[in-house]
Amino acid sequence: MTRYEQLLQDLPKHPKTWLITGVAGFIGSNLLETLLKLDQKVVGLDNFATGHQHNLDEVQTEVTPDQWARFSFIKGDIRHLADCQKACKGVDYVLHQAALGSVPRSLNDPITTNETNISGFLNMLVAARDAKVASFTYAASSSTYGDHPGLPKVEDVIGKPLSPYAVTKYVNELYADVFAKSYGFNTIGLRYFNVFGKRQDPEGAYAAVIPKWTAAMIKGEDVYINGDGETSRDFCFIGNTVQANLLSAVALEPDARNQVYNVAVGDRTTLNELYRAICFSLNSNNVRVSRTPLYRGFRAGDVRHSQANIGKAKRLLGYMPQLDLKSGIGKAMPWYISLFKGSEI
Ligand SMILES: NC(=O)c1ccc[n+]([C@@H]2O[C@H](COP(=O)([O-])OP(=O)(O)OC[C@H]3O[C@@H](n4cnc5c(N)ncnc54)[C@H](O)[C@@H]3O)[C@@H](O)[C@H]2O)c1
Repeated sequence: MTRYEQLLQDLPKHPKTWLITGVAGFIGSNLLETLLKLDQKVVGLDNFATGHQHNLDEVQTEVTPDQWARFSFIKGDIRHLADCQKACKGVDYVLHQAALGSVPRSLNDPITTNETNISGFLNMLVAARDAKVASFTYAASSSTYGDHPGLPKVEDVIGKPLSPYAVTKYVNELYADVFAKSYGFNTIGLRYFNVFGKRQDPEGAYAAVIPKWTAAMIKGEDVYINGDGETSRDFCFIGNTVQANLLSAVALEPDARNQVYNVAVGDRTTLNELYRAICFSLNSNNVRVSRTPLYRGFRAGDVRHSQANIGKAKRLLGYMPQLDLKSGIGKAMPWYISLFKGSEI
């Protein structure tokens, strides 16, 4: 039995109180669904900056009324310390996901990204430390590797950040480390690498590549590939990301604490390959894709290649990714198709 399988068995027998910030977002709402299904008590904090009430409504349909009754939602903003303090009260484990994602958004509006991702993060650290939570797991990012060309990425070798967003995520790591050293506070940073799955928002200027392309293909719209399509990423299915969060929260061994970990699969897929994988999955679901992709310029702030070495998370957290890109896309596809059922296919 893996450490995660053991944890899934143990948690319902010993329920805990979890705080998920950014609970109405993509990753937050998936964490919520998993924890409620494990009969945990969950507090959620969100200001709906990029998250949606409909994500919470959808989770409600996935769990029993008893499980849903264990969830309490606070509409609040991590930029306000009082909201963070209210949310942290009586909490065992914090999973801090709230932030403004997207490299282009941070280039367009570095000030709001900084206020949310750095000042908001610091508020959460202070509130969680003062509430004496058992652990503080936070969403770090592969963007911290910046301009370092080495592949696969190993946690302690990073380059210079390529965007304001990357700066904020690196500063999170520095603050978490200082809080660990100065106050003995338990933190774990998870450097996510291009997470995908159900409830990832396909709408808006800052949508991620998989939901954006999938939506366009289902609706029969043009798909744009930035650059020559040979840019590559280590795409990580949401189930793997949820697993890493739960394992981190309960990892109380001294060696495992106060670290950052890559959370990915350890594979590398080019955008051209990704396009073909989405087409294949749509075809298998009887959605025909007739158009070919259109190529345009490279996007500012993007790194060329990204691939994780996940050895550290395997060794110290017992992390074992369960699904690769193709099987993850297969799992997420029915959700996207049902979302656009009314659209012309
Ligand atoms: N999705 C990815 O591939 C990826 C990769 C690396 C890191 N991350 C990080 O993971 C976390 C979650 O990302 P996601 O993909 O679920 O994005 P998301 O936009 O779906 O979720 C973020 C949530 O945070 C909330 N939020 C934003 N500002 C807030 C504020 N001031 N106060 C309270 N809530 C606020 C939003 O409303 C939203 O619900 C973020 O920290 C992001 O930077 C994501």
